[in-house]
Amino acid sequence: MWKAVVTAAVAFVLLFCRSSTLDNGLARTPPMGWLAWERFRCNVDCVDDPYNCISEELFMQMADRLAEDGWKELGYNYLNIDDCWMSMDRDEQGNLYANKTRFPNGIKKLADYVHSKGLKLGIYLDFGTHTCGGYPGSIKYLQKDAETIAGWGIDMLKMDGCYANVSDMSWGYPDMEMYMNKTGRPILFSCSWPAYAGGIKVDYSVLAKHCNAWRNYDDIQDSWDSVTHIIDWFGDNQDVLAPVAGPGHWNDPDMLIVGDYSLSYEESKAQMAMWAILAAPLFMSNDLRSISPEARSILMNKEVIRISQDSLGMQGRRVIKDHNGMDVWTRPIEFPDIPSYGVAFLNRRSDGIPYNYTLTPGDLKFKCGSCLGYQLTDVFSGQDYGHCATFQEFTVSIVPNGVVMVYAVPTSVDVTSVLR
Ligand code: GLA
Repeated sequence: MWKAVVTAAVAFVLLFCRSSTLDNGLARTPPMGWLAWERFRCNVDCVDDPYNCISEELFMQMADRLAEDGWKELGYNYLNIDDCWMSMDRDEQGNLYANKTRFPNGIKKLADYVHSKGLKLGIYLDFGTHTCGGYPGSIKYLQKDAETIAGWGIDMLKMDGCYANVSDMSWGYPDMEMYMNKTGRPILFSCSWPAYAGGIKVDYSVLAKHCNAWRNYDDIQDSWDSVTHIIDWFGDNQDVLAPVAGPGHWNDPDMLIVGDYSLSYEESKAQMAMWAILAAPLFMSNDLRSISPEARSILMNKEVIRISQDSLGMQGRRVIKDHNGMDVWTRPIEFPDIPSYGVAFLNRRSDGIPYNYTLTPGDLKFKCGSCLGYQLTDVFSGQDYGHCATFQEFTVSIVPNGVVMVYAVPTSVDVTSVLR
């Protein structure tokens, strides 16, 4: 009898704990995949632009590409719907449903299709009265909407914060997480709360309890200015942001725009390298049906992805700011089991010639301990800079609006076995 009571009490406590903190076990490394918004926006004109409008066809085609073109194997396994998928009204029972013209088979069928490809499906809701695009919001329907998306087999939710009071978000996002937990379906939860609360005026320890990732700042646009503006903001606020990132909970500087219209090849490498240093979710927003081989090679660079997905889960920091136009960022990584660093030398100059930047590992504030120095290897070109003692100079040559990214592996140990 007592045994049964104790068992029941333990079960109750476990159930209670389960529904009061984020314990979905997801996003132990920054999530990767594809997200519709930056590239496809709220294009709902399937009459004149059927190839690009927000429709089940678009998502099925992107699922095919993710599954068949090698993306999935590299970790890009979430396919995410953003705004403008819904009908303008809820049904008579208050349930959300997809626009019937553009998603004639409904979201559950789409989720089945995506799952059949070995992928996961993400969806978009908004905490307020309406989504940013004017579709129905969730504020009065949190539990219902959590149950709806779980019933459809959704694997990730991006919950936006348009048309809501920021003061309501401190109960709203935790409530949504609780309702999703209660469904029993693990759903990766991306919260836009900080982006609406001024970026650094939120208690990130609370965010980390309820969300697997959160949008901190402005929407990315298709421009180098937008990319650098976001990088700078993350650098300027790194003392607040870097400590709160870790396995299960990540800062999100927004989508990768590599493969779209505006970034040059070098700028694209720079975005990819910086997102890896920032331990950012890697959600591409591009057209995988027609992406160029150059953009594909950047997004598929296994060494950059390895830095991004490093199991320590530490967000990198800007250690040198504007030194003759250079910023230098470092991220502690394991590589795969030796404490090492990923380093990004970011050239902000646009004066036309590659800049030769000379410095020592010591300038990068590595915690070397008793190591002899570092073995430096270029992540993109494979160039071996050789062994460099802590106060020995080395030179990297960085093109305008470009990046050089290296692994720095300490050489107190024999690293030849782990270097590829
Ligand atoms: C906001 C978000 C974007 C996108 C749009 C959709 O602007 O920050 O990422 O989801 O809404 O309307």
